[in-house]
Amino acid sequence: MLGGRRPGPKTGLSVTSHPTVSPMTARRSAALAGHMRVPGDKSISHRALILGALAVGRTRISGLLEGEDVIHTSKAVAALGARVDRRGEGSWEISGVGVGGFRAPAETLDFGNSGTGCRLLMGAVAGCPITATFDGDASLRKRPMKRILDPVTLLGARAVAAADGSRLPITLVGARDPVPIVYRTPVASAQIKSAVLLAGLAAPGATTVIENEASRDHTELMLAHFGAQVTSEPEGPHGRRITLRGQPELAAAPIVVPADPSSAAFPMVAALIVPGSDVILTDVMTNPLRTGLIATLRDMGAAIEAVNTRADTGEPMADFRVRASTLRGVEVPAGRAPSMIDEYLILAVAAAYAEGTTVMRGLQELRVKESDRLAATADMLRANGVEVAIERDDLIVHGKGHVPGGGLVATHMDHRIAMSALVMGLGARAPVKVDDAGFIATSFPDFAPLMRALGADLA
Ligand code: S3P
Repeated sequence: MLGGRRPGPKTGLSVTSHPTVSPMTARRSAALAGHMRVPGDKSISHRALILGALAVGRTRISGLLEGEDVIHTSKAVAALGARVDRRGEGSWEISGVGVGGFRAPAETLDFGNSGTGCRLLMGAVAGCPITATFDGDASLRKRPMKRILDPVTLLGARAVAAADGSRLPITLVGARDPVPIVYRTPVASAQIKSAVLLAGLAAPGATTVIENEASRDHTELMLAHFGAQVTSEPEGPHGRRITLRGQPELAAAPIVVPADPSSAAFPMVAALIVPGSDVILTDVMTNPLRTGLIATLRDMGAAIEAVNTRADTGEPMADFRVRASTLRGVEVPAGRAPSMIDEYLILAVAAAYAEGTTVMRGLQELRVKESDRLAATADMLRANGVEVAIERDDLIVHGKGHVPGGGLVATHMDHRIAMSALVMGLGARAPVKVDDAGFIATSFPDFAPLMRALGADLA
């Protein structure tokens, strides 16, 4: 049963459907210098809107990422019955409907390019007695959704329509009487874990997620911040067992969104590879389940110094001073992947500028991101004269200390390919061009102007 038409969020912000392509070229640049505050963390921004929409009362969010992915989530929670108001840049207020209180949206929920918004809200909708249809762009339509449908089916929800059995568009009928489940995630994925926990909110009793490798824990932390009872215990050598007591009264709570370490990764590597650079990145979130790239770059010899560490807003953060460095190749163990899953593209760029071989192990999950990032990383490097190989799920980059450049990189509707290739071009001997920089707006809309302000030659 579909509900009546409801007003969208009062934001004044819109998202594009990328009708035209916008190529961009990066040229070898003089030393980068200055301060940059990258936009708010994407994972936290999605969760703030979703939990705000499920809480009772008005949640004030500051520093929200106003990238296209998050705007799609704001429109989706409004369509599900929450009131969403944008008060100023990054400053938003959500009046929630209470756990289990989502209403059937009048229209298909469109998540654009965003796997996180789509999968987390599938979980939240699965625990409500409503029907909703989920869809996205051509990239999101290719991505696996069975990993969400499997656990939410155990909980009592049903997919009544899905392309190829488990791809978007998907129509989901939420559970009338959701049952709590104990679920072991088949891969280390915060999106699967979060979907199960958000579905379990509406179930009586305890919902448990077990993961063999710990993935980012923002959902657990934010649920506790909103008053839910959540415990997280070690499970085996690297895993976690997370248990949520169902049917909590979630109470609105203020959220301050720190800067996104996955976005900071781009100016960070740019500063390392452009000779003479000295850059400060401010307010970067340092949740240990997100800092695998910084640990790896330091292993490679990077001069990255945390100058102002603090933990005053729920998640730890720091300012980082990054100076151009001579890097050396390293071996990155598979166990590090969950803490840097979005950073392998830009790590591969750093590895190309390093002396020696970098081996990145256990990257099977990269094949199902916004694009097949394992293949795309190899193509990006090869097109610019870097020697690279894929062996099963491992990526091997033979660094020579410099990059010839001169290539055209296909971005495959993937923001991180576009930004990684452009960063690579800032130190390369010949310019590096990307076919379409438009998707950068999904996560880091001001990437080009902020990089130019440091001295990057992007046009
Ligand atoms: C995210 C989890 C990761 C990551 C994505 C954001 C999240 O995906 O790649 O960009 O906010 O939970 P997986 O959980 O599927 O690895």
